Amino acid sequence: MNDYVGHLRLGVNIDHVATVRNARGGGVPEPLRAARVAEAAGADGITAHLREDRRHISDADIDALSAELTVPLNLEMAATPEMQAIALRHKPHAVCIVPEKREERTTEGGLEVAQDENRLAHFIAPLRDAGCRVSIFIAADARQIEAAHRIGAAVVELHTGAYCDAHAEGRFADRDAELERLREMSTFAHSLGLEVHAGHGLTYETVKPVAAFPEVMELNIGHYLIGEAIFVGLDASIRRMRALMDEARA
Ligand code: PXP
Repeated sequence: MNDYVGHLRLGVNIDHVATVRNARGGGVPEPLRAARVAEAAGADGITAHLREDRRHISDADIDALSAELTVPLNLEMAATPEMQAIALRHKPHAVCIVPEKREERTTEGGLEVAQDENRLAHFIAPLRDAGCRVSIFIAADARQIEAAHRIGAAVVELHTGAYCDAHAEGRFADRDAELERLREMSTFAHSLGLEVHAGHGLTYETVKPVAAFPEVMELNIGHYLIGEAIFVGLDASIRRMRALMDEARA
């Protein structure tokens, strides 16, 4: 039953190119330029999170990416009426619904789908009707996966943050338990007919075990790649990640 072992897509998240730009308030470095480098380096898609407070990606960035990209755009956004209107205007290839808290530094946990099923089902319906592939960013938790399935999402993106944090902090027993949870929940989500993606906090050291899960079809990776780009350049940092993913999959 290996029919789903296919090409593992890499979505490069360019949010933090915008973070650096916004630190000075000018126009450089340009996220669109980073997206073009990512495309050339083998990214299968570009991911950008338009936050409510616009702390990194701006509306103009989404306009430019929508108009110029030749690979699919995955728009990450909170489930708010404002974001829904923006998504319906641009109709990106994919929309990933994420939780958002103003005070957080990054997307800290997965979306609470199970307790907000009705609202989320109504929220994603017009996006699906517009042709967007709707993905829900959730913890590797059976309850949340079942709820994502019930509301009609095509994709779940499993949050790899707890696994990556445990690795970075040297808590290896926790890391291995988190990895096992991700493995089991990838299989479970796939068995329901959901496409499985994963991401958050992935690095060269943590990517391979997740990339090796046959059910995982896409990884979305940003912060580490942009950080590495300071030392080796964006093209090289993406190519190395791509190579590690391919090695894990081989
Ligand atoms: N996937 C989702 C849903 C995210 O919200 C993020 C962070 O914006 C990522 C992947 C990428 O995480 P990182 O920047 O830590 O690689």
